[in-house]
Amino acid sequence: MKYGRIVGWGKCAPAKILTNFDLEKMVDTTDEWIRARTGIRQRHVASDGETTATMSAAAGRAALAQAGLEPKELDLIIVATSSPDYLVPAASSQVQDLLGAKCGAFQLGAGCTGFVYGLATAQAFISTGVHKNILVVGAETISRNVNWKDRETCVLFGDGAGAVIVQACDEPTGVLSFVLGSDGSGAEHLGVNIGAHAVMTPAALERGDHYLHMNGREVFKFATRVMGQAALEVINRAGMSLADIDLLIPHQANLRIIELAARHLNLPMDKVLVNIQNYGNTSAASIPIALVEAVEAGRIKEGDTLCLVGFGAGLTWAAAVVRWGVSERPFAMSSMFAPVRRVRDRAGVTLRMAQSQVAMQTLGARRALQKGTARAVEAVKSKASLALLPLYTRLDKRYTRNKRE
Ligand code: COA
Repeated sequence: MKYGRIVGWGKCAPAKILTNFDLEKMVDTTDEWIRARTGIRQRHVASDGETTATMSAAAGRAALAQAGLEPKELDLIIVATSSPDYLVPAASSQVQDLLGAKCGAFQLGAGCTGFVYGLATAQAFISTGVHKNILVVGAETISRNVNWKDRETCVLFGDGAGAVIVQACDEPTGVLSFVLGSDGSGAEHLGVNIGAHAVMTPAALERGDHYLHMNGREVFKFATRVMGQAALEVINRAGMSLADIDLLIPHQANLRIIELAARHLNLPMDKVLVNIQNYGNTSAASIPIALVEAVEAGRIKEGDTLCLVGFGAGLTWAAAVVRWGVSERPFAMSSMFAPVRRVRDRAGVTLRMAQSQVAMQTLGARRALQKGTARAVEAVKSKASLALLPLYTRLDKRYTRNKRE
């Protein structure tokens, strides 16, 4: 089985920043309320011309550069988003075109959980040996679907994109286990009601159906319940315990949800990545952006074990245990396996030497055989000529006699 090593990573956050103080001028809110209830101080908001596709491509380019890969070396592109540029075509094909890649691409919709779903999907393609290099992106331009007059939602969200390159490798690394969950009965609590069931009519526009709606309290309850559960389940599936986790990277929706989940898991906050203060909730982009920031800040080291856990519209949830880096160490027992690896390497060298010796000897034997056969044929030929000589002589004499007569 192949493993999916994360060899490249990149992010893109719009330059335009909207602080809580900016929002104070737009809706009936305060910086104090937003910070106390959510932990958010500012969010990035896409400017004209910046979209899910353009930010995805920017994050993808950074990830490719980090991996030292050309776009043409990609075998697949997965873009997780709930705010694509269009209903059709999918943002993934725009990203493929913007990057100049020559591969398949598809869009994945699982709300804020989408990136973890994407990572699990990439691992499935890699583990079966179907693909070697896969770009997984989480990207959102939620600001375009937020009602900037609704204080209950507009203060929460932000735009951005994060991306990773997953590459096939033989050592146990990358996604070691994952859990994917869905409970569609909770759909009403979070969504944007446009689509085949809710056609965009002037009346629907008037009602504001195209804006994101949310039952904050219900989502809060759901999130605090599933975050801890999904994390424990995925860690268990990897055959590990919480003590093996170096860093938990949760979906950045609300600092209070993250703190409650950490308390539920009995995990100290210094083992939990929090960057919601700078980005707000960037939905499917939140986990990859947090991951990239953690790597850039030196919070993730070679061989570290991460737990990514997300939740969102659907309702959905997902978690993955990810081993970071090249790590030739199977799971958390590197020193124990070092002698085994040395023996395996030595055995490999001995085997290769034996193979080349056998190949040389086979070649020599074949040449000798060819020479011997050639000599034997020549000997048979000359013996046959000698044996036939009297006959030839008699025939020749008769022929000459006949000719004279
Ligand atoms: N500024 C000031 N007051 C606000 C406000 C804002 N931006 N938004 C809501 N309020 C008010 C409410 O109107 C309510 O007033 P009332 O008591 O007079 O009715 C009061 O604050 C408390 O509202 P409540 O809903 O109890 O707040 P809360 O502590 O639950 O926090 C959320 C609200 C939205 C921050 C919180 O429920 C939450 O984070 N939910 C999860 C959302 C989420 O994660 N969504 C994305 C999932 S991917």
